[in-house]
Amino acid sequence: MGFGNWAGSRLHVSRAYCLRKLSWDECEESVTEQKTWSQRFESAIVPAIARFNASIGFDIELIEYDITGSVAHAKMLAHTGIISAEEGEQLVAGLEQIRQEYREGQFNPGIEAEDVHFAVERRLTEIVGDVGKKLHTARSRNDQVGTDTRLYLRDRIEQIRAQVREFQGILLDIAESNVETLIPGYTHLQRAQPVSLAHHLLAYFEMLQRDWERLGETYQRTNISPLGCGALAGTTFPIDRHYTASLLNFGGVYANSLDGVSDRDFAIEFLCAASLIMVHLSRLAEEIILWASEEFSFVTLSDSCATGSSIMPQKKNPDVPELVRGKTGRVCGHLQAMLMLMKGLPLAYNKDLQEDKEALFDTVKTVKACLEAMSILLREGMEFRTQRLAAAVESDFSNATDVADYLASRGVPFREAYNLVGKVVKTCLAGGKLLKDLSLQEWQELHPAFEKDIYEALAPRQVVAARNSYGGTGFVRVRQALKDAHYRLSQN
Ligand code: ARG
Repeated sequence: MGFGNWAGSRLHVSRAYCLRKLSWDECEESVTEQKTWSQRFESAIVPAIARFNASIGFDIELIEYDITGSVAHAKMLAHTGIISAEEGEQLVAGLEQIRQEYREGQFNPGIEAEDVHFAVERRLTEIVGDVGKKLHTARSRNDQVGTDTRLYLRDRIEQIRAQVREFQGILLDIAESNVETLIPGYTHLQRAQPVSLAHHLLAYFEMLQRDWERLGETYQRTNISPLGCGALAGTTFPIDRHYTASLLNFGGVYANSLDGVSDRDFAIEFLCAASLIMVHLSRLAEEIILWASEEFSFVTLSDSCATGSSIMPQKKNPDVPELVRGKTGRVCGHLQAMLMLMKGLPLAYNKDLQEDKEALFDTVKTVKACLEAMSILLREGMEFRTQRLAAAVESDFSNATDVADYLASRGVPFREAYNLVGKVVKTCLAGGKLLKDLSLQEWQELHPAFEKDIYEALAPRQVVAARNSYGGTGFVRVRQALKDAHYRLSQN
């Protein structure tokens, strides 16, 4: 068996690897000599095409996972006797040295490496000599890149889940101290019924709870090993896929090699879960933007989390929530791009799949940054103006349903009561009055069922307290919901 023919050994480059991180332009310049593939190729690749093909500019992000995957593969090759134990050890030591060099900023492959997989393999051969050329036995870059991507994403999912948890905790803290703070509740962005501010914030807690769970499920399907699927059809070598899977802590192995190397459904699932997180954050961001406006004035943004205008000295802008709202479009765009990337691909690997990475990396970076910024904003950058909120719920007709409910609970059919209250609201609007301004006599002229306790039923606090149905905003329910939320937050 000859190990001299792997494509990387045919690369002819001016510098095997660069000693510092190169800019993209510098990388381009570094392709001074042209590269050929196996001996099948007679002419060298056109430099512009080499640049076009290269993914090293972004897949360097995977390097530690590439090394980890290769270490497992090398151990498996030795374990199964495909290479000797000593060769296995040399490969592992060489790979770990590359990890060290990378961490110390000493390993910065240029564009001539094409991708991170070739870059590592080539450096390995420089370090350990010809035995390095044995690493790629019984493996293809197709199962290799699939392994790297899953290892990368698995870690990032855990990090994002932890951030979601932290954010949920912040929501709970604010909710905890605002059970009895009232805020207008809206439908169609029209005042509808007042609610407890804690109840409002707990709605976001619930959304993020599902996001957290969804990411957990995505993790399960990401945590499957494609290593050993080969280029597409498996391999002639007596490999042990379960061995590498267990070294890499995968929960299972792909049952079908064609599927293992060519699907990216786990990445799409992640992008979908990430898009939903962003959509949830964006809805909250939009509310904060509204709340911070002069028109609402429900919150004040602290100077430390807002910015000014370059021309209007009076301005304080809610940049953080605006950026979160804006970045949501970009993450949802990546989901769309990945779906379109996959939809027409015949089995098995196609180079189109190289396009999965930037979408994934940018999504991870964006979601993490948004969760961090929103956490800071909520924890220390924003304060609810409780007096303003209290005044807001006093000055509208959001207690109208309660008048109808008052009559309905005294035997008046609800629709009849509803119509009557509609008329009352109309009269009040015409006279510049609120419901609480009507005298008992006026109420009783409208319907004999009204008694003195109508005023209590109309008070915003009572309006909220009375909605004690399961999942409702009544204070007793909200306290229970908070307890329940704390319990769920403690479950991992
Ligand atoms: N850079 C490639 C990618 O990201 C690695 C796999 C290449 N495989 C191939 N058969 N050309 O997808």
